[in-house]
Amino acid sequence: MKYLEAIEKRRTFGIIAHPDAGKTTLTEKLLLFGGAIQTAGAVKNNKIKKSATSDFMEIEKQRGISVATSVMAFEYSGKQINILDTPGHKDFAEDTYRTLTAVDSVILVIDCANGVETQTEKLMEVCRMRNTPVIIFVNKMDREGKDAFSLLDEIEEKLSIKVRPLTWPIGIGDRFKGVYNIYKKNLNLFQANKTKKEEDIVSISDLNDPKLPELVGNKFAEELIEELDIIDGVYDTFNRNTYLTGEVAPVFFGSAVNNFGVQELLDSFIEISPSPRGRETDKRFIEPSEDKFSGFVFKIHANLDPKHRDRIAFLRVVSGRFERNTFYNHVRLEKNLKFPNPTSFMAQDKSVIDEAFPGDVVGLYDTGNFKIGDTLTEGEKLLFKGIPSFSPEIFMELENLDPMKSKQLDKGIHQLTDEGVAQMFVIQPGNRKIVGTVGMLQFEVIQHRLINEYGANCRFSPKNYYKACWITTDNNDQLQSFLKAKASYLAKDKDDNVVFLAETQFLLAMAEQDYPDLTFHKTSAFKLDQ
Ligand code: G4P
Repeated sequence: MKYLEAIEKRRTFGIIAHPDAGKTTLTEKLLLFGGAIQTAGAVKNNKIKKSATSDFMEIEKQRGISVATSVMAFEYSGKQINILDTPGHKDFAEDTYRTLTAVDSVILVIDCANGVETQTEKLMEVCRMRNTPVIIFVNKMDREGKDAFSLLDEIEEKLSIKVRPLTWPIGIGDRFKGVYNIYKKNLNLFQANKTKKEEDIVSISDLNDPKLPELVGNKFAEELIEELDIIDGVYDTFNRNTYLTGEVAPVFFGSAVNNFGVQELLDSFIEISPSPRGRETDKRFIEPSEDKFSGFVFKIHANLDPKHRDRIAFLRVVSGRFERNTFYNHVRLEKNLKFPNPTSFMAQDKSVIDEAFPGDVVGLYDTGNFKIGDTLTEGEKLLFKGIPSFSPEIFMELENLDPMKSKQLDKGIHQLTDEGVAQMFVIQPGNRKIVGTVGMLQFEVIQHRLINEYGANCRFSPKNYYKACWITTDNNDQLQSFLKAKASYLAKDKDDNVVFLAETQFLLAMAEQDYPDLTFHKTSAFKLDQ
């Protein structure tokens, strides 16, 4: 029973946003409200400034700090909250996608002035693939922005998800008066830098209450009544089930930097968000309540000290109880491993733990046994699904600059790609290595780390590929003729899957037309989602 209570108590989620929408600020405010940190600024450092693309010190700093802040756990209102950090920098988007496989829900932050931005669309795509429940926080209401109704329309249209406002803003920018909590029927009056929760929250159970115009003025009171009427007419009543299945996203409005609306968000989150969910494997669905331990690695982090190649593998516990110093089966390697120093992360502190439960993330010291996606069990031969690879956006060929060090280069690039820093596709003949990433920054990181950690010197030369596509088909004849015709554009990914490196959108369209029975996937997730 205690075990089931431990599961029910946990809430594991990620905060996602287009850079600058306010993810770091909101994370920090949640930690402040949750009592996990005492001062602002603790999370802030965990950001690479956009201008710092060549600043290796920043990259190194980020690597160090993000280990510490990879999971921010704290207790709030009887629940254990695990916030999984996702890098804000777009060049690390792939890292974010993978982290999303380890969460049970997300909070999506949108800037009220910018609305839905490209990065948001991509992140939502990943959430939709997994039916992850999403709560939307419309931030920066203290600044001029788009009208709330148009914003909701834009969200529905661009993110292909239905919305249901749970709070509603009164005014915006200089005229921002506060938010009305539709379900609690109370009014939270805006004040910059709010620190106390109860202060200025007025119960307005009847919208005809004369207190309303007194507090916000006649014009805003009338507007609010009118708008709430429209909301009731347009949006279905909030239903937790459609939120949990990822069909409807509840929406909150606020201003993270002013601590405004954060409390409502956190309290509702506690109320509606899911406890740890099970995960699909290649054999069967695993429920968190099963008593045998299982978990998967979703992130690997090189340790700060470049002299030691130790890495930390982040394992999400899916079922059972993880225990320190107990042998578990590494399914891919068919090897039993035990972990003397598993680590948990409580806000900024790391500490060795004796046990962990479903929903928890454990840091495992690793000397090279783990790849992203690896599964640990008590012996059952199964592999968790759902760690997709996405087609990179930028491709470069790796060239060795020091023939004496080719072994080191080979080892280095394999380890870095196992960590998920980039993807590697190998073209035969010649064993040519094409490295693919979503941003230029990774190439700098790779080059820097290859020299510093492996003593290997390399150069990257740009390749003009448009996309890497994984192929599926039932028509083997057509596949064989495609493989023959396009031999020079084929490569193997890390799992030995054949990948078509299409040079242009047009050539990809041509291939799709010429080989109609082949399906070209821009993510390897097709294997997982079928
Ligand atoms: P990110 O992690 O999503 O990239 O965004 P971050 O929280 O760093 O916020 C980006 C900028 O937006 C920051 O300003 C932050 O202070 C500001 N911000 C966040 N929430 C609000 C809000 O509710 N209202 C207003 N007006 N601004 C907000 P900055 O100038 O880039 O950084 P800083 O110098 O303030 O630290």
